[in-house]
Amino acid sequence: MRLAVLASGSGSNFQALVDSPLLKNASVEICCLFCNVAGAKVIERAARAGIAVELLSHKDFKSREDFDRAVLAKLSRHKPDLIALAGYMRILSPVFLATYPDKILNIHPALLPKFPGANAIKDAFAAKVPETGVTVHLVDLGVDTGPIVLQERVPIRADDTLESLAERIHKVEHQVYPKAVVMMAKRG
Ligand code: GRF
Repeated sequence: MRLAVLASGSGSNFQALVDSPLLKNASVEICCLFCNVAGAKVIERAARAGIAVELLSHKDFKSREDFDRAVLAKLSRHKPDLIALAGYMRILSPVFLATYPDKILNIHPALLPKFPGANAIKDAFAAKVPETGVTVHLVDLGVDTGPIVLQERVPIRADDTLESLAERIHKVEHQVYPKAVVMMAKRG
């Protein structure tokens, strides 16, 4: 099972996938990292792990579809069976989704369908809800929609700050994403 990871930023979830014994035990190989932001920290992480990096900036393309076609061409060289978005700050176009139907995962730092969008941790904290969490789901045409693969709850403590909550959520993400990838790999 070959996994391609798409990321735009720090890549702590990418790192968790690289380091996970669960992936190794299930013979899931990370075949490449695709990144759309030159200089992103995730690129260094991939280089250190000896994983192939493909880099293209969306700014060099006229449309989302043109960009996605170029990304798909890069990815096809690595023959992925499964794709994991890990802080990939682009919405996938229909051409992308049609190429890998039901094979694209995303991780989101809230208990979807609650708190979709780019500020999920902040939104949950501001809403003063007793708990939030982490969701791994299949990607569809919506933003943070699509069938849920795995979720884990994270209680919000009375003494939490936004930072302490974010830190706990990220730790849970790093456990949950490898589990979800392996679940999908076993589904075939
Ligand atoms: C994570 O919180 C993930 O849930 C969200 O983007 C963030 C990426 O963080 N989609 P990192 O780059 O993996 O550290």
